[in-house]
Amino acid sequence: MLCVTNLCKSYTTPQGNLEILKSVNLEVDKASFIAIVGESGSGKSTLLQLLGTLDYADSGEIFLNDIAIHNLPENKLATLRNQHIGFIYQAHHLIPELTALENVMLPLLIQGKSKKYAQEKALTLLQQLKLEKRATHIPAHLSGGEAQRVAVARAIITKPTLILADEPTGNLDESTATTVFDMILQLCKSEGVAVIMVTHSQAFAESCDHVYKLSQHQLSKQVS
Ligand SMILES: Nc1ncnc2c1ncn2[C@@H]1O[C@H](COP(=O)(O)OP(=O)(O)OP(=O)(O)O)[C@@H](O)[C@H]1O
Ligand SMILES: [Mg+2]
Repeated sequence: MLCVTNLCKSYTTPQGNLEILKSVNLEVDKASFIAIVGESGSGKSTLLQLLGTLDYADSGEIFLNDIAIHNLPENKLATLRNQHIGFIYQAHHLIPELTALENVMLPLLIQGKSKKYAQEKALTLLQQLKLEKRATHIPAHLSGGEAQRVAVARAIITKPTLILADEPTGNLDESTATTVFDMILQLCKSEGVAVIMVTHSQAFAESCDHVYKLSQHQLSKQVS
């Protein structure tokens, strides 16, 4: 489903070239839940940005469903992201002026779906997440956990093939974090979506199918 080979990335800084990823390889199957761990600054978010086509690698290849995404121009990438990739971040990144319902509807509206269709789908999803009573709340009027569940709903409404989650439970208390984690895990298994999740939680990492550690610019599989 996702196949990454020899991915390299460095940043140009006033102090010179900063090498972050050096020949990173990764293969992820459908319905598989991958955890990425590693020290702060090791390049986990950088890797997720590259996989999510939000930044270009210096070299290397990324195939998503056999599409060579490292070669696609920006206009094609925007469509690919909208149709195939769901993003969840540590902060929810919901649009502050829009209600929970409108935030969840947005990816479908961007796809050109009708407002009625988007509203029905978004409401069903919010009901499943037990958030229907919060549908008309703006993000500032949601709790942290509620906002993060809305962000999960927004990430999955298009039925993406890949979910990239960067410390999705990092800001949540333990019980809410578990709820959000279980929700992503269940989605992975029931819908067959592949998930790559960066986490600092050993417990969540251990519940994933595979754990990879980013260290010294390279990704290595941890034996469980
Ligand atoms: N745009 C940029 N320009 C220069 N350096 C950058 C840029 N973005 C990130 N870096 C550097 O790259 C390194 C990796 O950053 P990254 O955000 O990927 O780390 P991380 O593993 O996600 O860390 P954390 O666990 O703290 O989130 C850091 O040392 C950071 O300072
Ligand atoms: Mg990070």
